[in-house]
Amino acid sequence: MLEKDIKKVLISEEQIIARAKELGAEITEDYKDGSPLMVALLRGSVPFLAELIKHIDLDIQYDFMDVTSYEGTESIGDIKILKDLDTSVRGLDILVVEDIVDTGRTLSAVVKTLYNKGANSVKIVTLLDKPSRRVKDIKADYIGFEVENEFVVGYGMDFNQKYRCLPYIGVLKDELYQ
Ligand code: IMP
Ligand code: MG
Repeated sequence: MLEKDIKKVLISEEQIIARAKELGAEITEDYKDGSPLMVALLRGSVPFLAELIKHIDLDIQYDFMDVTSYEGTESIGDIKILKDLDTSVRGLDILVVEDIVDTGRTLSAVVKTLYNKGANSVKIVTLLDKPSRRVKDIKADYIGFEVENEFVVGYGMDFNQKYRCLPYIGVLKDELYQ
């Protein structure tokens, strides 16, 4: 039903699962001395979080934050905390889970906030990285795939709240972005 709006599939469901397995193994190894609290940013990161945690062989806990101020296809200025964590991060190692790092504004503000709240360490795992659009000097520690400067949808990522439920990552037909 949504398929008819897709111009091309960039990353298939099989590729995402295979990459999540690799990242899960890396994270398991890196945190073998102490499990992180995974902080997933609503709402785009939910499908990726769900896949990734299946492949992390640790006693993982996760919580959610909603901070985005993203409208349409342009990322704007400062972020607002719409939903804060229920868990205290004081003294904890945090692994932030994001769908895509674009300008980096969201993550740089989130990382700062988590350190201000007393986190011991903050690392980032993101399904996608769009480095060509970066305005903040921030780099994810674990990256699923790098993508070109194109607006993508699916696997949690939306265009005006639509297309999140697609099981793959794709680009919409040009006329839909008008
Ligand atoms: P940043 O603060 O500019 O890095 O924006 C990050 C957020 O913008 C992501 O968490 C996404 O929600 C959204 N975003 C950025 N690029 C895309 C895209 O290509 N498709 C869908 N959402 C995007
Ligand atoms: Mg987001």
